[in-house]
Amino acid sequence: MAQPNYDRKAELTAFDETKLGVKGLVDAGISQIPRIFHVPSPNYLKSDHSQLTLPTIDLEGIDQDPIKRKQVIAEVKDAMESWGFFQIVNHGIPFSILEDMKKGVLGFFEEDNEVKKKWYTREMNEERRVVYNSNFDLYSSPVANWRDTIFCDMAQITPQADELPPTCRNIWPEYSSKVMKVGSGVFELLSEALGLKPDHLSNMGCLDGIALIAHYYPSCPQPELAIGIPDHADNSFITILLQDDVGGLKVFYKNQWVDVPPIKGALVVNAGDLLQLITNDRFISSQHKVLANKVGPRVSVASFFTTGRSTELSKVFEPIKELLSENNPAKYRTTTTKEYIDHYLRKGHDGTSALLHFKI
Ligand code: OGA
Ligand code: NI
Repeated sequence: MAQPNYDRKAELTAFDETKLGVKGLVDAGISQIPRIFHVPSPNYLKSDHSQLTLPTIDLEGIDQDPIKRKQVIAEVKDAMESWGFFQIVNHGIPFSILEDMKKGVLGFFEEDNEVKKKWYTREMNEERRVVYNSNFDLYSSPVANWRDTIFCDMAQITPQADELPPTCRNIWPEYSSKVMKVGSGVFELLSEALGLKPDHLSNMGCLDGIALIAHYYPSCPQPELAIGIPDHADNSFITILLQDDVGGLKVFYKNQWVDVPPIKGALVVNAGDLLQLITNDRFISSQHKVLANKVGPRVSVASFFTTGRSTELSKVFEPIKELLSENNPAKYRTTTTKEYIDHYLRKGHDGTSALLHFKI
């Protein structure tokens, strides 16, 4: 899959300037994908037909039944220590809201081109609350991904209705407040799974911010050449992911790429790098990826729990003291979320862990 020399930068720029993302290429009827999308190595596409099954945890009754809660905490602990990933059902978000959220995202990407283009930007600042683009790391990553994205920071300062695209206006704030509640419950379980008080992680600021990142993976005419999202770990404390029924998400576990299968009404929970850092590697931020697919579009919504953008960015994080001992000294130095996120964004999805930069 070696590429002949070509003016990659010019092709990336031309693609970026269409402001129509990967969907624009598909709408134009291409049957061969542009070479900026060709993966540089077949490793990107590695997929194992693994028999391993990602745990699904049923949250029904955990607030009423202490025995059930204890069982769930044990399941959460096992899953986070080994997989760094699990799915949850009976999490409290009504099915209709999950469906409306996916519909709103689909609606945005299927919006009239001229309307959609107005949201396209690579700027991230207070004035541009909503960022729509294709490949946040387009110019730095080794391969352009078969994916378009719309992003909005939802916590702290809730966006005004007219700051959100029409198809997302009502549902994004509603979904975000619901997923925040789920997140709050999950952080309690995680705290308890670490042997800490239930509010420990939320008191540290893990729940202070939430960004909704909605992806649109168009149908790909040559999935054997492209990748939806390459091998990466998330720059969050946790991510709660809503996916549709197309599939293609895989997590790296025990040296194999294992499916994260779509389950009706379920949400996927995974640890991000910041959780791995503060738990001193107790909970692991696993690598995951999404393959390109002939079937499409695929829609997913990742809710990233990170500290918000404003003042909280200067907040300092380090391995939780209560988890350290003489035999288990801190493996990471102190950092701020700003330093960590800047490093992550600069690095892009290059196949290495952003955490290495913070190792002692
Ligand atoms: C992400 C991610 C997976 C998906 O946004 O970090 O891994 O299924 N998304 O879209
Ligand atoms: Ni991810």
